[in-house]
Amino acid sequence: MATQCSVVVLISGSGSNLQSLIDASQHSDAPFKIAAVISNRPNVKGLSRASAAGITSQCVDHTEYASREAFEADLAALIDQYQPDCVVLAGFMRILTASFVSRYERRMFNIHPSLLPKYPGLNTHQRAIDAGDQLAGATVHFVSAELDAGPPAIQGQIAIEPNDTVDSLSKRVLKIEHKIYPKVIEWFSRGRLVWQDDAALLDGTPLGAQGKIVAWEDISTL
Ligand code: GAR
Repeated sequence: MATQCSVVVLISGSGSNLQSLIDASQHSDAPFKIAAVISNRPNVKGLSRASAAGITSQCVDHTEYASREAFEADLAALIDQYQPDCVVLAGFMRILTASFVSRYERRMFNIHPSLLPKYPGLNTHQRAIDAGDQLAGATVHFVSAELDAGPPAIQGQIAIEPNDTVDSLSKRVLKIEHKIYPKVIEWFSRGRLVWQDDAALLDGTPLGAQGKIVAWEDISTL
């Protein structure tokens, strides 16, 4: 890997996770740099965030393609122009084919707003509230071909309060997301985090089925 890990970030919307990665990448000792930001939707806030940080940003609008495969072919061609060490899905809301995933095998990450393997897919916070769960949170994981799956690197957890709504809970979980995603990309960039066999390893130690579990109260110790 190069001195600094080169990262391409894929987004679909607001890009608040992208912003946390941009902020982390701007520290003087940051082990990664963001080579490009690519959105599948035009005119989203995340693209403006990239421009404001002086990062190349482009849109590959999936609605202009007749098939998922055709969209992914152009997306992959664009990503590969930057020869990234790592591809980071930050609120990228497209299902990916197994072929696309295998192209970036063991070097692509996703963040998902639930305690995986609970609640892959959409409406995660509503589902956690409806189920009467005591905990919610977010998971960063290596990407495998299954939706919102692959060896987890970290899981940030927070209590669901009795009067929580989707809005209040998602705001608190987003704060966790903004702490854990840059940390995982930093670990990977420093060569501390790898996907070996079926598990994510941090400093040579296999992480459990949920990755490293961090409670909100301890998040500053990361
Ligand atoms: C985040 O909550 C992220 O976890 C979620 O989309 C949101 C994007 O917010 N991703 C998924 O649901 C992926 N399955 P952002 O654009 O402000 O970073």
